Amino acid sequence: MEFFIRVFLLCMLELAARISHVAANPVSFNQGFDKLFGDQNVVTLDPAGKSVRISLDKFSGSGFISREKYFYSKFSAAIKLAPGYTAGVVATFYTSNCQIYPNTHDELDIEFLRHVDGKCWIVQTNLYGNGSVTKGREERYRLWFDPSEDFHYYTILWSKKWTVFYVDNIPIREIPRIEAMGGEYPSKPMSLYGTIWDGSSWATDGGKSKVNYEDSPFKVTYSDFVLDGCSIDPTQRDSQNCDNSTSFVTNFGGLTKEERIKMGSFRAKYLTYSYCDDRKRYPNLLPECAHIP
Ligand SMILES: *[C@@H]1O[C@H](CO)[C@@H](O)[C@H](O)[C@H]1NC(C)=O
Repeated sequence: MEFFIRVFLLCMLELAARISHVAANPVSFNQGFDKLFGDQNVVTLDPAGKSVRISLDKFSGSGFISREKYFYSKFSAAIKLAPGYTAGVVATFYTSNCQIYPNTHDELDIEFLRHVDGKCWIVQTNLYGNGSVTKGREERYRLWFDPSEDFHYYTILWSKKWTVFYVDNIPIREIPRIEAMGGEYPSKPMSLYGTIWDGSSWATDGGKSKVNYEDSPFKVTYSDFVLDGCSIDPTQRDSQNCDNSTSFVTNFGGLTKEERIKMGSFRAKYLTYSYCDDRKRYPNLLPECAHIP
């Protein structure tokens, strides 16, 4: 149920967003993004608008959206989660095309979920394709650092054949596009988002721990944005016009052997949940699971 509520909410938010133009690479917040909601809680931190801070207070969450839509791209930002976070607060860095394709949307998520008892942060990644909102493909991880102490890099690499999530340039998850996934591999142009919102109903301990607004506002800062992909008319269904793009993702050929080893070490230590291990939820595992080590 919570998936539907969430997806619906995100769709509504996107409807409010504008579509406009041109983002250079790498980009400042001012160059590449617009406010999406909670305008008064979206604040640039330097005169050039390189970084942005978004916050959640008892009146509103907030968020931003890239001006352009991309057909395959590397999306990256340095993100710092302010200390004083509590249960129930969700901060995100994700891609979606919900406003153009409300019933068949694609989405790639990095979500920061605060763990109740203080020290331990949880990061969740997820993928939806062509409106597959009933099929969560979640993974959750601990991190080897406290993400509220300093900026760290979080990256979503979305290419025609692979999706890879990275933390500080270490690949933490690779999803190959295999035939059996069909339309469930994201394959329409997407925008990039950063949001912070109240996830009391589900984020921490399955919703048992709510946001405590005595500690608000909760803040998260984004900087060093990278939008390295082919920006395109969002209704374009075919990536052909992007196939000659010189962007890194067009030519991405998968992880190297060394990167796979790094990813393996990370996962052995920090992976706490994978839908591919969840036989209760998926008695027949989703097809790509057979290809994920
Ligand atoms: C996406 O979903 C729609 C509606 O369910 C379906 O008609 C279409 O064939 C699907 N597209 C792909 C690529 O699977």
